[in-house]
Amino acid sequence: MIKKARFIISNTDHNKCPAPDKPEFAFIGRSNVGKSSLINMLTNHKDLAKTSGKPGKTQLINHFLIDDKWYMVDLPGYGFAKISKDIKSTWEKMIADYMKSRPNLVAVCILVDSRLEPQKIDLEFILWCAQSDLPFVLVFTKADKQGKTKTDANVRAFLDKMIEMFDDEPQYFVTSAEKATGREELTTFIQNEVQE
Ligand code: GTP
Ligand code: MG
Repeated sequence: MIKKARFIISNTDHNKCPAPDKPEFAFIGRSNVGKSSLINMLTNHKDLAKTSGKPGKTQLINHFLIDDKWYMVDLPGYGFAKISKDIKSTWEKMIADYMKSRPNLVAVCILVDSRLEPQKIDLEFILWCAQSDLPFVLVFTKADKQGKTKTDANVRAFLDKMIEMFDDEPQYFVTSAEKATGREELTTFIQNEVQE
């Protein structure tokens, strides 16, 4: 369980992020996939991270200090069609620069909408992480939005893609911010990594 969560700083510039002296876990995924909602659910806060029904809400790199021990990072989403090409490449560069500049980044939590079949943009991002040697886990979101059979089928289809790409299944979690599904599993995973 997470006992304490505190907002530290928002940035566009990775150089101004907190010193990389604590283990860090970044949350990333398509716009509107539920990154900020998941952070609120994991930390048991209503409004720690700003959420919105409209994609493109989070536009900065946001650091939260958890239990005085590790950083949780809320990032802007990728693949948001309604922003201009210029902003898109600025965001993508900001995210890529951030991810490559954090030696303390223990794992990237890549959020994937459990309602959808595998999406090209997620697979491309995952490939980029793998090619950049960034360890990642998958977090399927919004599992409350459909029945378990449908969630299981979409998760299975995504994992099959992972096997096609990497001959292996990454570690994964099925979550719902609405119902707090997966909170225990994901928090335990992170806390075990932090203690190592
Ligand atoms: P950006 O910051 O725009 O990239 O989006 P985000 O990935 O941070 O998504 P956010 O947490 O703002 O959530 C987007 C929308 O999805 C909001 O309307 C949330 O209430 C909703 N949502 C997020 N997670 C869940 C979930 O587990 N279940 C349900 N039913 N809705 C969710
Ligand atoms: Mg957000």
